[in-house]
Amino acid sequence: AAALSLPSAASALAPSAPAGDAPNGRHFPEGFLWGSATASYQVEGAVHEGGRGATVWDTFSHTPGKVHNGDTGDVADDFYHRYKQDIQLMKEMGLKACRFSVAWSRIFPTGTGSPNAAGVDFYNRLVDTLLAAGVQPYCTLYHWDLPQTLEDKGGWENRDTAKAFADYAAYTAGKLSDRVRHFMTMNEMRSFVEIGYGSGTHAPGKKLAPGPLAQLTHNVVLAHGMSVQSIRASTKAGTRVGIADNATATTPIIENEEHIAAARKAMREENAMFLSVILDGKYSEHYLKRLGADAPKFTAEELKTISSPMDFVGINIYTPLFVRADRSEKGYAVVPWTSTYPTMASPWLKIGPEALYWGPKLLADVWGVKEIYITENGASSADVLAPDGEIYDTDRTMYLRNYLMHLQRGITDGVPVKGYFLWSLLDNFEWADGYEKRFGITYVDFKTQKRTPKLSAKFYEEVIRQNRVV
Ligand code: NOJ
Repeated sequence: AAALSLPSAASALAPSAPAGDAPNGRHFPEGFLWGSATASYQVEGAVHEGGRGATVWDTFSHTPGKVHNGDTGDVADDFYHRYKQDIQLMKEMGLKACRFSVAWSRIFPTGTGSPNAAGVDFYNRLVDTLLAAGVQPYCTLYHWDLPQTLEDKGGWENRDTAKAFADYAAYTAGKLSDRVRHFMTMNEMRSFVEIGYGSGTHAPGKKLAPGPLAQLTHNVVLAHGMSVQSIRASTKAGTRVGIADNATATTPIIENEEHIAAARKAMREENAMFLSVILDGKYSEHYLKRLGADAPKFTAEELKTISSPMDFVGINIYTPLFVRADRSEKGYAVVPWTSTYPTMASPWLKIGPEALYWGPKLLADVWGVKEIYITENGASSADVLAPDGEIYDTDRTMYLRNYLMHLQRGITDGVPVKGYFLWSLLDNFEWADGYEKRFGITYVDFKTQKRTPKLSAKFYEEVIRQNRVV
């Protein structure tokens, strides 16, 4: 039989395939920032070391019945002691950036008062080690681990917490800004507000009525705005301040003009009490009308603070919210999920890669955001060690490939996404799900703390190496 002959690259007969299908297509722009994300309570452990104060998550996880299997973050990934090896892992994967969070109670053990030098030292060492490995640090100042002392005084229900947060954020960013350029004030406001104080299935486990919950939400966005200002005042010129918000990624159920227009309206409305008030400087009429007597009390001055300009917007994207056009006053309707809609191991994690196109696209279209980061995206999977010692997380790899295709599509359309932080580098403490739901691209054996990169880590490494979806 004749040998298979391949056309030479120079052959004039070689068809030129459209960029998207060519073996070298699906590229990201040069310098695109590939990273991974983690959060203090989910990975650090060492909860009684270095002068760290207790947080709402220590209290909650130690309350029987609150976390799956009675798991706690006492040890987690032991990142507090193993960060050097884990940064080595990042380096081997070719990661260009690392998003981490600072535990407020390591810096101010009771939330306010005098700073704890040992806490600052830990993050100094972490940042120095990242930089030495060529990995850029992106620092989140609040990823849900509120000092317990502040919760005892009312937590986010108490407006003083906003002031305490702005002070802590200014102090911490001030200490790090000679080496850290990007700061995010808060992570996923909606999650810790609605799950922590609404349904009560996350710390501190409160179930507030709609009125108090709306007022608490207002305190949270106010805290964000106050900290944008305080960080600017305490840091080096050139410091960039943003947020890592889980803005609802409203996604047109069919990509035609009328449904796209509906998704655009929905983007503003569905994020009314979080990102919209921050970017618009006002609460939408629908939101205030819907709440009626439960609407928050606020001043014009506060709205100004809340909408303090940011340098970039980070969004965490997992699940889309499918919307369609309709004739209601709002101009859109949410499309319900079918019971057979595919999810990852976490039931809330519906697979909708289009969200990674529409989320950032609408941020840019609706508000004109010029610098966007995907501060989280990733998937939980029922990972098992195969007899050959590998973890073949085919579903997570499929998930990432499809989401990245849509991210690349958006960037090709001109959406200004500058970086992507995969959640997560390591399996870790998944809040109320404990260690049962694994989000890492690196498998962690929680008995031995052994790390094993999964198939998805090898996939991601290749994506980074080629700077394209592979
Ligand atoms: C959002 C949160 O920011 C993070 O803490 C969590 O582990 C992941 N999503 C996965 O649920």
